[in-house]
Amino acid sequence: MREKFIIAIDGPSGAGKSTASKLLSKRLGYIYVDTGALYRAIAWKVKEKNIDIKNEAMLNNMCEATDIKIKLVDGEQKVYVDGADVSNFIRTPEIGMISSSVSSVPCVRKRLLELQRYFGKDGGAVIEGRDIGTVVFPDAEAKFFLSASVEERGRRRYIELKGKGHDVNLEDTTEDIKKRDYNDSKRNIAPLCAADDAIVIDSTGLDAEGVVKKMLNEIVKRQDELKGFKDSSDQGVKAGCSMLFFI
Ligand code: DC
Repeated sequence: MREKFIIAIDGPSGAGKSTASKLLSKRLGYIYVDTGALYRAIAWKVKEKNIDIKNEAMLNNMCEATDIKIKLVDGEQKVYVDGADVSNFIRTPEIGMISSSVSSVPCVRKRLLELQRYFGKDGGAVIEGRDIGTVVFPDAEAKFFLSASVEERGRRRYIELKGKGHDVNLEDTTEDIKKRDYNDSKRNIAPLCAADDAIVIDSTGLDAEGVVKKMLNEIVKRQDELKGFKDSSDQGVKAGCSMLFFI
């Protein structure tokens, strides 16, 4: 058991992962890592360089030649691609859709896997994504799978995008969410799904405080469980994935 936990928070788009993860990381004094931003960073460069994502060799070369960094500034994660701060450009619906497409390409996942493991290597991290509890950190000490109804997620994403000044409507935003759910959960490698040992939280009708309260209760329980488990060599590492969601 790491002295400071890795807390994996997976789930589909719009489930409230970012708000809950940021709040939880502040409460615990842990770092916060939004792994979706890394896929969005690749998607941003794909768009900038006009890369055909069906051409895997070209995409692979691009990935290998791309420097991606993240930095926490006042609790907000900033993303840098080849030294340029792209944080404000990666949150558009278009980049969201491209990131969902590029995330099914093996060379992209391979490149970002190393990076994500590096960020979490010392523990003390709340890491959100789609495959954190199943692939990136199957040995995470606490795993959550956050979901909500597709209508609720569409509404939340619509409000968020409107708030950022994007010209969107509720219907299209909900349709985009459905498409991304499909892409993300149906891909062959590291699909979106709950790890066998993840705690599933339905955030429909819950605010971020309510979600974080449930998570903190579970984390305290995990700490107690793992204390009695410390000397065992089998620490319950599970990478299984038994539930598929939102198909
Ligand atoms: O969380 P997000 O909406 O910013 O993620 C953008 C896309 O990146 C998402 O549609 C799928 C992909 N993604 C992934 O495949 N694995 C992760 N751990 C995080 C994101």
